[in-house]
Amino acid sequence: MRDLENLNLQDKLDYLKAKKLKNMQKWELKEAHESTWDTDGLADLSFKVLSESHGPNWSRYLVDLESTAMEPVRKAPAKLRFSPKLPTAPKGSSDKIWDRIDLMYNSVLKDMFVSHQVVFPDGTRDKFHSGISPREGFHLYDVVRQNKFSKTMEVGCAFGTSALYICQAMHDWQKDSCASGLASEVIPQHVSIDPNQSTQWKSVGVLNVERAGLKQYHTLIEDVSYLALPRILSDIRRDPNPKYFDLIFVDGMHLFDYTILDVFYTMHLLKLGGVLVLDDIKHEGVYAAYRFIVSNLEGCLKLCHPSPCERTAATFVKTAQDSRPWDFHRKF
Ligand SMILES: C[S@@+](CC[C@H](N)C(=O)[O-])C[C@H]1O[C@@H](n2cnc3c(N)ncnc32)[C@H](O)[C@@H]1O
Repeated sequence: MRDLENLNLQDKLDYLKAKKLKNMQKWELKEAHESTWDTDGLADLSFKVLSESHGPNWSRYLVDLESTAMEPVRKAPAKLRFSPKLPTAPKGSSDKIWDRIDLMYNSVLKDMFVSHQVVFPDGTRDKFHSGISPREGFHLYDVVRQNKFSKTMEVGCAFGTSALYICQAMHDWQKDSCASGLASEVIPQHVSIDPNQSTQWKSVGVLNVERAGLKQYHTLIEDVSYLALPRILSDIRRDPNPKYFDLIFVDGMHLFDYTILDVFYTMHLLKLGGVLVLDDIKHEGVYAAYRFIVSNLEGCLKLCHPSPCERTAATFVKTAQDSRPWDFHRKF
């Protein structure tokens, strides 16, 4: 008999799957876990097993969900030395958060959410089927605007939803600065990396940013991130006055190996105090990358908790350069 108590969530699920045990319960357990992990602080289902019984093709475990003996993995981070302003989750905010008055004049963003449609360059329409949620969008918007971030990047542009929030934030903080007489001559820049922008997405992402009057803030690199990111890093390293990124939003290919490469390069491309937002952490591949960061890269990328959309996107601040010894590894 195998003791499941000390296995992490994924190993536990894999084990149960391999044993062809009744699937429903494990997914229910995972659902329940995902919807409460930000309040109960449990990142693993390492519950104490109170009793178990087994039949010819079934097993039943009674676990202690209330146990306080468990050390939560998701602790509030120690005070950050490099601390950008990070908004915390507004309690009880509704999904209509996009009603926020200060973005109502971004008619492109508004139209997409109201009509659930995107408009292609030839005027035809299709369903608005891919893009970050308003909650995630406003999180990006707030972080960029409040910190006056001027160099940002995203992996994955699609219809341009995240790019619209980020470029709008750049426009708005510039306007704030002008109003207070502190206008800077530097035009903030947001880079989108997406190999499929002109093919699969028919250039709608780039066009949407242009339609919103934000073109001067935006550049597209139409390539896969595993080629574009090392090139950008190499260019920065060769620059006598290198400027690292303030924020990188990772929302590209959601397979583990692609995501972990995006995270690896992001760690090297961010300035100290820079912010990584990793989207779609509920996807298995992205979740594994998330687990890797919190277990292995915590000396460098600190998880921000609580943060406004942490059920679906994790926010990290780069607090130090990577200084792990060559053979460092923690199971994740
Ligand atoms: C979930 S969508 C991004 C959504 C976008 N951030 C938004 O808010 O609308 C994922 C994107 O990743 C892009 N993608 C797929 N493979 C990629 C790769 N290897 N490198 C970079 N982007 C990739 C896809 O073309 C797609 O546009």
